[in-house]
Amino acid sequence: MDITFIMRYFWMITLTFSMFEANVQCQTNDRRAFPDGFLLGAASASYQVEGAWNVNGKGESHWDFITHNQSERISDRSNGDIACDSFNKYKEDVQWIKSIGLDHYRFSLSWTRILPSGFNDTTNPNGIRYYRDLLEELKVINVTTVVTLYHRDHPQALENLGGWRNERMVQWFEDYAKVVFDNLGHLVDIFIPINEINALCADELNDTYKPRGNGLDDMGEYACIHNGLKAHAKVWHLYDKNYRATQGGMIGFVSSSRGWVPSEGVTEESIDRYFQFRCGIVMHPIFIGDYPEILKTRIGNISNLENLPESRLPEFTDEWKNIIKGATDFLGLNHYTSRLPIFDTSEKLGVPTSDSGIIEAVDPNWSTASSQWLTIVPEGIGNVLRKIRDEYDNPALYIFENGFSDTGETEDYARIKYHYDYASEVLKATVRDGCNVKAYTVWSLLDNFEWYYGYTQRFGILKVDFDSPNRTRSEKLSTQWLREVIRTRTLIEPPAPSGTRSGSCEFIHEETEKLVEKL
Ligand code: BGC
Repeated sequence: MDITFIMRYFWMITLTFSMFEANVQCQTNDRRAFPDGFLLGAASASYQVEGAWNVNGKGESHWDFITHNQSERISDRSNGDIACDSFNKYKEDVQWIKSIGLDHYRFSLSWTRILPSGFNDTTNPNGIRYYRDLLEELKVINVTTVVTLYHRDHPQALENLGGWRNERMVQWFEDYAKVVFDNLGHLVDIFIPINEINALCADELNDTYKPRGNGLDDMGEYACIHNGLKAHAKVWHLYDKNYRATQGGMIGFVSSSRGWVPSEGVTEESIDRYFQFRCGIVMHPIFIGDYPEILKTRIGNISNLENLPESRLPEFTDEWKNIIKGATDFLGLNHYTSRLPIFDTSEKLGVPTSDSGIIEAVDPNWSTASSQWLTIVPEGIGNVLRKIRDEYDNPALYIFENGFSDTGETEDYARIKYHYDYASEVLKATVRDGCNVKAYTVWSLLDNFEWYYGYTQRFGILKVDFDSPNRTRSEKLSTQWLREVIRTRTLIEPPAPSGTRSGSCEFIHEETEKLVEKL
């Protein structure tokens, strides 16, 4: 027998074996499979999708007021008067949810659709009916219902009284929650009282529209967070005490978050400071019982230097600490992006650049979504999850928002890649690192009204044609990808736009094939 033939034969056997082994490795070591019971869903919010802003007895919300009276604050001067028209098209939305196969759907209630004046003096039966119909429709298709009581669109009447800066909001919010629990609670699996109070207060009370100057804007932000935490806790206790036993749902706190990655100047201390100011400000009171020490110290000192009579960060009484501590069944997390937290070395005693003393830098090599703030840094989400695991004794964690904006492309390869990369990091943190993550939620089900950016930025996995009076919905590539991910309970490799191959397992085959060709 010719020696080259023997060599070839030997090589072929070895290669066949290694191809088989590679394949088996892909299957058995597959970090892309979601754990049993892991929920995969999508989210939306009332003002961003419903429309029907003044229909059937609905009262004016804060966002109705902003878009109608301060339209210069919105990039395209648009509003949510019609938005996706989900108020009229909710049955179609539910059919889309069914067609994609979502395990859960997260949506929010419009406070003024239920209580038009903001107070509980009059309940609007049409509003209750609308949400009951939607929830019943979702029950028919067996989807886990996740309901946010409040997602930024609080009543304008209450904003006129100071909104979240007014401590009486705590009571008004509890009154509203009671009406919801009484009328809709039996149809809800998971309640979220308030969507990301930390981001809400920062965006609403600390944005560029407000006159800035002596730091008093931050005082409004802290007051807003303080009252929001109290309101959340009161509503958690209300449900826990009076409704949980009969309604059998869960209720939990949802925070926004930003991640980080290692880089020059990013140290364990700078990461911790950044985390405490962004997340600890709300998570620490919920899990540990008060604001983090670093916030109390720095904001107290800086307020002192500003000659204020007291810290801009309010204090909780012991009674409130006890009410807030532990007032959650899980931690809900919204996550999109990361920064490089670096200590501000130009900070001099008495001249703070910010309460945190942290510069949130951006790596110029990071790409961004169409929202400039949304730098794409998948590793960041894993770092946040591991930090939460370590800080708060690994709470059950539901990712309730993660999303990517573009300008509405149907072939949204970049969106698929974003979700693939972020969800891969989530799986790594969960399966490899033991983080107790229970759900991953895509923001958003539909292209919708993106607050100050109007319709210029689209986050949907379904396309909405805002030029058509019908607000026609249609599939994007990401719709199909997500459907397949949910069907297989596996993260499917993102398709490459050029038709080139991608992904680790395929890569192994490609290399093997190259070797075979050489022979
Ligand atoms: C908010 C959404 C918003 C999304 C993208 C989230 O933090 O909850 O309402 O559309 O960010 O900006």
